[in-house]
Amino acid sequence: MSQNYLAETEEDLTRLRKILCKVTRDDADTVRRRLAKRDEARVLDIACGDCREAEVLTDFIAELKGRSNAAIKLTGIDVRAREIADAQRRYGGKKEFKDRPGTRECEFMTGDASKLDEHGEMGDDFDLVFMRHQNYWNGAKTWEKIYDQALTKLGDDGRLIITSYFDKEHELALEAIQRLGGELIQTEFNSETRELKTEGKSVDRHVAIFRRKED
Ligand SMILES: C[S@@+](CC[C@H](N)C(=O)[O-])C[C@H]1O[C@@H](n2cnc3c(N)ncnc32)[C@H](O)[C@@H]1O
Repeated sequence: MSQNYLAETEEDLTRLRKILCKVTRDDADTVRRRLAKRDEARVLDIACGDCREAEVLTDFIAELKGRSNAAIKLTGIDVRAREIADAQRRYGGKKEFKDRPGTRECEFMTGDASKLDEHGEMGDDFDLVFMRHQNYWNGAKTWEKIYDQALTKLGDDGRLIITSYFDKEHELALEAIQRLGGELIQTEFNSETRELKTEGKSVDRHVAIFRRKED
């Protein structure tokens, strides 16, 4: 990996951190209240690829949880075995950091996220379900199943956050998730997004947060 690529990835992650704070700002108290009641905060990262955002996500939830001994567990799933093996090698296992209180545990599995209900071992009642660069355009039917499964994995007052590369793809995902039972809380255009070579495509271009609609 070139130095340039690594630097760009780091900058993308810094911007992701900022936009996560921005999109949750009006809703953070509800999330904090839920997290305060839990010994372990749980994050599900769907279609996580090599999950380079693992540390940003676990730190983000740890800060919202706000207890110095916070235990955070992230589960990542993707259909691509090679990316999952990379994620496991880089971020897998239980860790304690000198500069960050509490523990962080990450586990990764290869699997089809449109069939999450077949992964009983994963559990449910997640505090945060996350999808970075959801890919609605690449198979709308499959992604609608993935969104549906994502919503069923949310605990009460849990939150679903998605990011998108493209304007139109984001719009379609917002429509689909709301149709499937998600209630849109906030969507943000990322003004610092890094443009990619394909016209109209950029990193974490849009970010949106949902809760599950009440039955
Ligand atoms: C646009 S990439 C985003 C990857 C990563 N989240 C990122 O931001 O770099 C879409 C990801 O969805 C995964 N994917 C596609 N269909 C899937 C499915 N049915 N189950 C799990 N992952 C899937 C792909 O393998 C790919 O890693």
